[in-house]
Amino acid sequence: MVLDANGRTYAQTISTGESPPHTLFEGIAADPGPGPGITKKKISKDRIYLLLSTRAGRDNRYVIQAALDVSREAGIVRRYRFMAEGILLFGILISAAAGMVLARRAMRPLAHITAAIQRIRATHMTERVNSDQWPRELTALAMAFDDMLDRLQDSFSRLSHYSADLAHELRTPISNLIGEAEVMLSKPRTPLQYQQNIESSLEEFTRLGHMIHSLLFLAKAESTDIKVKPELLDAEVQARAVIDYFVELFQENDISLTIRGNAALYADSSLFRQALSNVLSNALRYTTAGGSVDISIHGDKQKNAIFVVSDSGIGIHPDDIPNIFNRFFRAESARTFDATGSGLGLAIVKSIVDLHGGTVDIQSVLSHGTTVTLVFPHPA
Ligand SMILES: Nc1ncnc2c1ncn2[C@@H]1O[C@H](COP(=O)(O)OP(=O)(O)O)[C@@H](O)[C@H]1O
Ligand SMILES: [Mg+2]
Repeated sequence: MVLDANGRTYAQTISTGESPPHTLFEGIAADPGPGPGITKKKISKDRIYLLLSTRAGRDNRYVIQAALDVSREAGIVRRYRFMAEGILLFGILISAAAGMVLARRAMRPLAHITAAIQRIRATHMTERVNSDQWPRELTALAMAFDDMLDRLQDSFSRLSHYSADLAHELRTPISNLIGEAEVMLSKPRTPLQYQQNIESSLEEFTRLGHMIHSLLFLAKAESTDIKVKPELLDAEVQARAVIDYFVELFQENDISLTIRGNAALYADSSLFRQALSNVLSNALRYTTAGGSVDISIHGDKQKNAIFVVSDSGIGIHPDDIPNIFNRFFRAESARTFDATGSGLGLAIVKSIVDLHGGTVDIQSVLSHGTTVTLVFPHPA
């Protein structure tokens, strides 16, 4: 439709099909600017027109108005949008559900681990999470976890053996003391008998006292209450101080004792003497009359002080060597050979050497003799 300057209809195309209502350009055609302005107008739910209204001709005298029925195209677009939104929503729901299933499946091993962990008690330490059943990403975790359980189980069983051994070691001497006292009191005794009884009790009390002292030392060493202050010492001087204490005992038992060599030793003097004294007392205790004990001292390339104590004693069975440093462990042969002894001596040697960052090693041939090697390191 073309309108002239006065707004009257100047020309009009003959409408084909359904003609647009007369009111179509209302509010649009009144005075359009010089450029073309396209407007979309909705008449009813499914009648939509694109309207163009522009000025043309000389001095912009005429207004050209054109209407295009886009109802069908709009319908197609609407249907497509509806479909696309539906598909999108469906996709979101499906992927959320799949995500949930996958997450749940991925978390299942963790639920398993959690259940296994909850079953673990001090009395139920055999539980394992079993790494071969896990997805590859989790096997390292499961393996580390099982390793940790192995170590814990080991510590727990050692601790419970330790308590059992401790109770046993204390019970025997105490029941002996009680038994002896009861026998003494069962009827009147001479003063000499009382004296002998008190003397033998005192020996047992002293032994118990030593044992408690040793246990306290080990407990302290383990909780690192003991701070080692290594100082530069003369190894031979230190060793001779220990030997002086033993010389008479060796002579009484007809065992020869020799010492040779020297080295610079970095250690806490009293701890070192305690360690060497425990090793020497074993050499003395487990060597028969006529035997020999030799101490040799030397320094190695790294300036570590090395003490080698060899005896010609009863030796240790190869099966017993791995247990030799355990608290209360005494080889069967040692028990029959000498009933006294608590089985704590070498545990203390080991903890003293550990406190110094050194090592202790035992080589032995049953019925031939034993060699203990102590290494006290040079501070780097
Ligand atoms: N020099 C040695 N010769 C033979 N056996 C030894 C020697 N030193 C240690 N042992 C063995 O190691 C065990 C533990 O030694 P230790 O801890 O000192 O305990 P104890 O001397 O009280 O028995 C001994 O019971 C013994 O079986
Ligand atoms: Mg001993």
